[in-house]
Amino acid sequence: MTKTWLITGTSTGFGKSLSIYLAQQADVNLVATARHTDQLSYLDQYDHGQILKQTLDVTKADEIAAAVKATTEKFGTLDVLINNAGLGYFGTFEESDRDAVRYMFDVNVWGLVDMTRAVLPTMRAQKSGIVINFSSIAGLASFPTLSFYNGTKHAVEGITDAMAQEVADQGIKLMLIEPSGFRTDWAGRSSQKAMPTIDAYKQFTANIEGSASDAHHEAGDPDKAAAIIYDQVTNHAADLPLHLPLGKFASDTAIAKYEKSLGEFKAERDLSISADQPE
Ligand SMILES: NC(=O)c1ccc[n+]([C@@H]2O[C@H](COP(=O)([O-])OP(=O)(O)OC[C@H]3O[C@@H](n4cnc5c(N)ncnc54)[C@H](OP(=O)(O)O)[C@@H]3O)[C@@H](O)[C@H]2O)c1
Repeated sequence: MTKTWLITGTSTGFGKSLSIYLAQQADVNLVATARHTDQLSYLDQYDHGQILKQTLDVTKADEIAAAVKATTEKFGTLDVLINNAGLGYFGTFEESDRDAVRYMFDVNVWGLVDMTRAVLPTMRAQKSGIVINFSSIAGLASFPTLSFYNGTKHAVEGITDAMAQEVADQGIKLMLIEPSGFRTDWAGRSSQKAMPTIDAYKQFTANIEGSASDAHHEAGDPDKAAAIIYDQVTNHAADLPLHLPLGKFASDTAIAKYEKSLGEFKAERDLSISADQPE
């Protein structure tokens, strides 16, 4: 059965790879959205009426509403939403620029929230739908010089997990994509960098410089991620995982983080439960 997919942020990176992959599938209607749709001409060679290009900045409520309306008017349904649009910000906690990180929260968290709220009425009416939220391994584990990016992705994790429990009875499923480094524009043009100026943090300069120089040399392949996501939705929808780390570093880090936390929680067990009132 043909499904209608809407993806945010399809100019480059994961969004572009997903759009190219989905545009070649026989069972997909594709709504490729971007802040500037003139960047989506790469899709023209695949278009035989199953592709809608739509202007969408996820921080603009009117553009969100227009994109959802255009989707249901053209295709009648909206089956899969991929909240992919996102930014990064490198800087120490103390030195990060408040307005810049606030804008990152507007895109990475509130953009995803507003998009999802805009499609839920359609998915509830259909009694089916899948929402795929791009988190990051930085949504499960935290790294120095990424405190606020970590914050946006941890927020995405918590919101998604709770929401998944609220909408399960409506036939709506959610999946978190948790990649490690992938070859996209994220570490380059999509991430502001605030170099340490306080002596105590100069040791982190190399981290930030390294992130910029490593951009486009990461291990992860966004084309492979696109194929995996399509396969999960198409062939594994009944048992879709809530969490999907992508890339070896993401998988290793997620397992190590949870094993360490589990050990700590068990070691603290007696102390933890001693805080309750006696039964
Ligand atoms: N690459 C990685 O290593 C990695 C790892 C973990 C998670 N992620 C996540 O993966 C997602 C996709 O990023 P990417 O790696 O593919 O990087 P990317 O190539 O830089 O793509 C980011 C996309 O987001 C779009 N975008 C930015 N602000 C937007 C806004 N206000 N409204 C709509 N679109 C907006 C960009 O559009 P413009 O062209 O208009 O700027 C671009 O299409 C992000 O959520 C990112 O946090 C990436």
